[in-house]
Amino acid sequence: MDKLTQEILELERQSTVLEPTAEVRKDWMTQITDYSHEFIDKMEENKAFVNTYNDANAFEGMDYSKSESLESILEFLRKEVDTKGLNPASGGHVGYIPGGGIYPTAMGDFLAAVTNRYAGMFFGGPGAVRLENSLIKWMCELIGFPSTAHGNLCSGGSIANLIAITTARDRKKITSRKVDSSVIYLTGQTHHCVQKAIRIAGLNEAIIRYIPMDGRYKMDAVALDNQINSDKKEGLTPFLIVCSAGTTDTGSIDPLDDVATLAEQHDCWYHIDAAYGGFFVMVDELKDRFKGIERADSVAIDPHKGLFLSYGLGVILIKDVKAMFDTHFYKASYMQDAQDRFDEISPADISPELTKHFRGLRLWLSLRLFGLDPFKKSLEEKHKLALYFHREVEKLGFETGAEPELSVVLYRYKDTSDKNRFNKMLAHEIHEDGRVFLSSTILDGEEWMRAAILSFRTHKRTMDLCLKMLADCVERVKAKWSN
Ligand SMILES: Cc1ncc(COP(=O)(O)O)c(C=O)c1O
Repeated sequence: MDKLTQEILELERQSTVLEPTAEVRKDWMTQITDYSHEFIDKMEENKAFVNTYNDANAFEGMDYSKSESLESILEFLRKEVDTKGLNPASGGHVGYIPGGGIYPTAMGDFLAAVTNRYAGMFFGGPGAVRLENSLIKWMCELIGFPSTAHGNLCSGGSIANLIAITTARDRKKITSRKVDSSVIYLTGQTHHCVQKAIRIAGLNEAIIRYIPMDGRYKMDAVALDNQINSDKKEGLTPFLIVCSAGTTDTGSIDPLDDVATLAEQHDCWYHIDAAYGGFFVMVDELKDRFKGIERADSVAIDPHKGLFLSYGLGVILIKDVKAMFDTHFYKASYMQDAQDRFDEISPADISPELTKHFRGLRLWLSLRLFGLDPFKKSLEEKHKLALYFHREVEKLGFETGAEPELSVVLYRYKDTSDKNRFNKMLAHEIHEDGRVFLSSTILDGEEWMRAAILSFRTHKRTMDLCLKMLADCVERVKAKWSN
C-alpha cells in the first residue's frame, strides 16, 4: 500500500466516530427522547419564566476540542439552557407573540436532518420541493390568493417581510436613484421587522409615512388616501403600503379591504403582515375580519406562530411570481444541471437561499398527522380565552383596552396615583414571579400590560393561574409602593 493510501485509510479510521453504529444511535435516541418527554411532561409544573440575569456564563471558555458523553451534555443543557429565562414551549408563555412546539415539528426536523433532503432545487429534491410547493399552494388558497400565486417557506416573519419588500422594490422599479422620492406607508403599530427590512433592502432613504390610526390602533384609510394624494401632488412616488392583520401590540387588524382599494387606485404594492394573525382566518367566526387580505400583492404568515410549530417557519405568499423570479433568480455555471428543469418552481430561484433547511417537512407532517380541525379549534379557543381574560381581568381592578379582535389583551392596573410607575413595577414583579410570562408595552406614552394568547398549550387553567398571579403581584407591588 502506498503512503498516500495508508494515510487516507488511517484518517478514515480516526474519523469513523462521525458515523455512529446503530447501537450507539439507538442509545442516543433513547436519551434524547427521554429528555424530551420529561421536558414536555413537567412543563406545566415548571415556571414559564426564570430570571437568571445574574448567573455566570457557563459557556465561557468551553473546550470544544474534547468529546463528552451525551448524558453529561444533556445534563448541562438542562441546567444552562432549558431551565433559564423564558420557556417558549410553555403554555404559560403569554407574552410577546408566543411560540409553540407541537411534537411533529421535532419529528419532521429530525427526519429532515437525517435524510438531509435538499429542498432548494426541483432537480435534486423533486419530492421535497413538491411537498413545500403544495404547502404554499394550500396557504395561498387559505387566504384567497389565486392558484397562480406562489411563495416561499423561510425562517420566520422577519425574513418573510423582507422577501416581500425587496420584491416590491424591484417590481415597482425603485432603483437607488429613485429611493429618496419614493414613499412607503405604515402605521406606528407596524412590526419593527418591516422597518428593518426596509433598511436591509436599501430603502432607508425612502420617505416613510406613519398613517394615523383610529382608537383601536387600525390604520385610518381616509388619512392614507389624503397622504398619498398629497405626496403625488408633491411629485413623490408612493409605491408600497404595509398593513397588519394582527398587530403585535394589540392584535388589531387594519382595514384590509379599504386599503386594497386605495392600493389599486394609487398603483402601490400592497403588503400585509399577517405573521401573527393570519391563521385565525380559519376560524369561521373571525374570517370576515380578514376581508380584503385576498386583494394584497403579498402576505407574510407564520406557522411558527399561528400553527403552533416550533420556531423556524415563516411564509411569504406573493401573487406576482415573475416579480419573485426577477428579484431572486440567478444563473451560475456550476448549477447548470439543476437549472434546466422548470417542471416545478424551485425555492432557490425565488428566494435569497440556495442551500436550505427542508423546513416544509415539519408542517406537512403536522398537518398530515392531525388534520386541520384541531388547529382551527385551538385558534378559536385562543380567541375565546382572550375574551375570557379581558372580562375577568377587569374584575381585579384593571382597566382594559378594546375587546380583543384576535388574541391579544391590553390591560393595566388603574387604582393607583401613578399608573405608569405602578404598571412598570407590576411587570417587574410578574417576571420575578414567573408562573406565567407576560410582557408590557407603551401605547401613546402610557405603560400597558399585554396578554398574548397563542400557544396550543395555553388553556383556561393557564389563564386562571395568570389571573391569580396578577392578583398576587398587585398585592406585592402595593406593599412595596407604600414602603
Ligand atoms: C406581526 C408580526 N410581524 C412580524 C414578526 C416577526 O416575526 P419573526 O419573529 O418570526 O421574525 C412578528 C413577531 O412577533 C409579528 O408579531
